[in-house]
Amino acid sequence: MPTILAIESSCDETSSAVSVDGVIRSNFIANQTVHEKYGGVVPELASRAHLQHIVPVVDAALKEAGVEMRQLDAIAFTQAPGLIGALLVGAQFAKSLALALDIPLIAVHHMQAHVLANLIDDPKPAFPFLCLTVSGGHTQIVRCDAPNRLTVIGETLDDAAGEAFDKSAKILGLPYPGGPLIDKYAKLGDPLKFRFPEPQIPGLNFSFSGLKTAILYFVQEQQTKDPDFLANNMNDVCASIQHRIVSILLNKLEKAAKETGIKNLCIAGGVSANSGLRNALTALGEKKKWNVFIPAFQYCTDNAGMIAITAHYKYLDGDFSGMDVTPSARATW
Ligand code: KG4
Ligand code: ZN
Repeated sequence: MPTILAIESSCDETSSAVSVDGVIRSNFIANQTVHEKYGGVVPELASRAHLQHIVPVVDAALKEAGVEMRQLDAIAFTQAPGLIGALLVGAQFAKSLALALDIPLIAVHHMQAHVLANLIDDPKPAFPFLCLTVSGGHTQIVRCDAPNRLTVIGETLDDAAGEAFDKSAKILGLPYPGGPLIDKYAKLGDPLKFRFPEPQIPGLNFSFSGLKTAILYFVQEQQTKDPDFLANNMNDVCASIQHRIVSILLNKLEKAAKETGIKNLCIAGGVSANSGLRNALTALGEKKKWNVFIPAFQYCTDNAGMIAITAHYKYLDGDFSGMDVTPSARATW
């Protein structure tokens, strides 16, 4: 039943979506190009860009959904985690709108929303399912027993998978964010040409900082021997880096599936847009007879559609926030 307007502003995407009875009717995303020349997201500039984008993005989402403000039953926003100045813009906007329309406010955890992006399109995973959430800030394996019952069973001890992609790309002289570029060049390269080490981390946790150092030393050594090494081997180097990151991720996911006995496997987060990861997970799923779920591209990277679907389930549970709710840069759940 509920018609919900959702806002996502945790990092460098201003996004708004409308859901009607758990169906996403619109999902608008405004990317911020201002960060490109700085080689990473500049928090202050992100906040300012959110302020510029938020009104037109919300307008567009409502129009596309064919929904008027007076038809809304709740306003949802990303509360945490993220850049605090960026989160404040979305939170303040959502609060003002909820107050003006006299409807409930729903605070959403960004990482829960990435997982529940798998509940947007059909076919949807049955509970319980496992989700490998891989983004620029997080790498987690989450057990999901119900929309609002999630447990983190593994996570990175240092860099996130997206950071591993982006920092490797930086070493190769590629612009930020380098993940999609490594993906692009890897398609033309040999993934077994160069062997990068796999860290031996106990349990279901991850570590990517050693891999980053190994790549740095490897590139420095090769470039010293041959200054044209990178220029002549970019595709193979990218394919080999991607192959290693993907194998680290999938080995742990396989271990989690074995330990929990769960055969419904999902991925989420920006890195789940990676074609090497999507292909390898699909192939592994066929071999292991898993039910594999991969969200549509628009719901992998940061988007308000995933905030709307999470808010939908929170609405059904009557899980609303007071007007005194504040965003948080870091948050556990
Ligand atoms: O979920 P997301 O959009 O934002 C965060 O919450 O962090 O994830 C962004 C991350 C970046 O590190 C970006 O390089 C990575 O996702 N990414 C990719 C691909 N597309 C986005 N990494 C590898 N291959 C891709 N195709
Ligand atoms: Zn994210």
